[in-house]
Amino acid sequence: MAHVSFDGTRHETLREESVLDTLERAGVQIPNVCRSGVCQSCLMRARAGQVPLAAQNGLKDTLREQGYFLACQCQPEDDLEVVLADEDAVGEIPVQLIGVEQLSQSVMRVTLEPQQEFEYRRGQFINLIREDGLRRSYSLSGCAANTDGILELHVRHIPGGAMSEWLMQAGPHQQLRVHGPYGSCFYVAGKTDQALLLIGAGTGLAPLYGIACDALAAGWSRLPRGAEFAASRAGAVLRRGRPRSGRCRSARCVARFRSTRWRRGARE
Ligand code: FES
Repeated sequence: MAHVSFDGTRHETLREESVLDTLERAGVQIPNVCRSGVCQSCLMRARAGQVPLAAQNGLKDTLREQGYFLACQCQPEDDLEVVLADEDAVGEIPVQLIGVEQLSQSVMRVTLEPQQEFEYRRGQFINLIREDGLRRSYSLSGCAANTDGILELHVRHIPGGAMSEWLMQAGPHQQLRVHGPYGSCFYVAGKTDQALLLIGAGTGLAPLYGIACDALAAGWSRLPRGAEFAASRAGAVLRRGRPRSGRCRSARCVARFRSTRWRRGARE
């Protein structure tokens, strides 16, 4: 059986087990969402060893060249030495909890003040780490004009969920840590006439909201006449209306979600 080396420890893989499975079995927490090769949140990099081609499906050529792969899709045939993607580029900083505000019945806005300089782009995601080591991945949202220097997360409240339940109860000034940022889904300035297609649901709308705000702030010229930010599940409506932008404020709303489920959610 092949072995996976991570953070100085060598782990034996089991039959038909992915690198993600192997590391999780060993108690290592690796960011992941879909476990099916779609979201790329489990991106890792091989420092040594041959990565199976199937583990690099959907990655840019530049990433493949550097040995990046999707941990959930990687069943190694040879020994690998792996690190988290951009491990050298990301960092960990202390943050202070500023507030928790209910956006809907199931989604809350969590704001954090970095205690050190922290460079990120809205649309990327971070690992939020509690004092006892509990960590969860959340996307970075918000608008530059509203959250200058403040990190904004949209967190779905899961009854009994270790982190979301704790955040609901936690008072301000709690000390946490943020590790990241991760991901390359963000607005790249300089292509102001480029079309944008942003599709999401539930708290998956959070990074899209941030990306839309950054695009508007950067002078994106293909403004929508309007949009509603909606979720596909009742009770998960994140925010109705438009990104706060002077150019968008008078826009006519043209995007409506008319499914029964949307109407149910919209009333809440
Ligand atoms: S967890 Fe989504 S691609 Fe691996």
